[in-house]
Amino acid sequence: GMGALLAQQAAVESSLPPMISPLQPRLDRSMSSLTIPPPACMLRPLEVPFRYLFGPGPSNVPPRILAAGARPIIGHLHPEMYEIMNDIKKGIQYAFQTQNNMTIAMSGSGHAAMECAIFNTVEPGESVLVAVNGIWGERVAEIAERMGMLYALAKHKPVLFFLTHGESSAGLAHPVDGIGDLCRKHNTLFLVDTVASLGAAPIFMDQQNIDILYTGSQKALNAPPGTAPISFNERACQKMFTRKTKPVSYLLDMSHLSNYWGNDGKPARLYHHTGPVSGFFALRESLAILAETGLEESWKHHKEVAEYLWTGLEDLGLKLFIREKDLRLPSVTTIAIPQGYNWREILQYIMKHHQMEMTGGLGPSINMVIRVGLMGYNCQKRNADLALAALADALRNCKKSKA
Ligand SMILES: *Cc1c(COP(=O)(O)O)cnc(C)c1O
Ligand SMILES: *[C@@H]1O[C@H](CO)[C@@H](O)[C@H](O)[C@H]1NC(C)=O
Repeated sequence: GMGALLAQQAAVESSLPPMISPLQPRLDRSMSSLTIPPPACMLRPLEVPFRYLFGPGPSNVPPRILAAGARPIIGHLHPEMYEIMNDIKKGIQYAFQTQNNMTIAMSGSGHAAMECAIFNTVEPGESVLVAVNGIWGERVAEIAERMGMLYALAKHKPVLFFLTHGESSAGLAHPVDGIGDLCRKHNTLFLVDTVASLGAAPIFMDQQNIDILYTGSQKALNAPPGTAPISFNERACQKMFTRKTKPVSYLLDMSHLSNYWGNDGKPARLYHHTGPVSGFFALRESLAILAETGLEESWKHHKEVAEYLWTGLEDLGLKLFIREKDLRLPSVTTIAIPQGYNWREILQYIMKHHQMEMTGGLGPSINMVIRVGLMGYNCQKRNADLALAALADALRNCKKSKA
């Protein structure tokens, strides 16, 4: 028992050379002089409520993907992990409709992919052009500003043009056709954000001449937050790997990440950072589900359920924020705040009485909309019915309040 252990330790200590012994008082102190006790919250079990995640993300994760993420950890540099990463690459190539070899998943959320794209392809002093059709364009403009770049009109010869395909703050699906060709003519890279739209609305990276495309794991892909697929075509690689300065981020440097993902043709993969192993298991499963379902089926399904939701909302007397049906994002619907209501009160009511998340606007759409997201696994008519019932209940009970 303990006595025997202590006796053993005493024997070891007595055999140590004398020069070690001055350490002993400090070791003793380190064992007995804690000033911060274990926090009481940490002695209680973890509690996570059930919520219907019908906002713009994250969305509910199906049991199959949760189970994949709960598999035992293996080393991030084990051959089995490389195989899983290769599968993920194939899954992303399918989801993006691209043959690009330079296809990886970032260890990080959608923002990591957003910064990776810009940090690697743009050098100080170069210009980028940003389509600000909602919060995401604003944010990319801020990232560019932080790097001391100008973002300016085409006459400044931008090296990169950024567009959000699924503008989740506005509920807008921005048309993409033709823009890639225009960018090519001006020797500009075309970067598209599909965090809120991948799997829910059609995108064709190769056919639409998109040079860099990224998405996130936690929206229509239904994986937990924390990984973000991204792909670069030949043009983007050419710009990225012939730059004169190093990218500002070591973690997001594609010359390292391409090696980590086995994309640089070198036989050895060197340690760069430890990837989120469980997150990659879950991402692989979510991409497998998309491959089994089929992209076209997934797009069709999102459109049908979205149209069902839109009709239901109009039947409740609500107005949709994006008037033109063809421009609406099927994964995230924006509802104009009904007159005489306080949107915060509606959302709080729905959370309290229906355990359901819907959200307000973001950035430019704040105070203008309520957002309802039905993505991937959540995209079901019965979930649309739940959302409609919750909204109807809130409209009855939050009427003409202080707003
Ligand atoms: C959610 C979202 C992001 C940000 O993704 P994070 O995973 O939260 O970093 C970027 N772009 C769009 C269009 C989004 O909807
Ligand atoms: C990707 O790599 C394969 C094998 O190395 C090569 O044959 C193919 O041409 C590459 N494709 C692209 C689009 O770069």
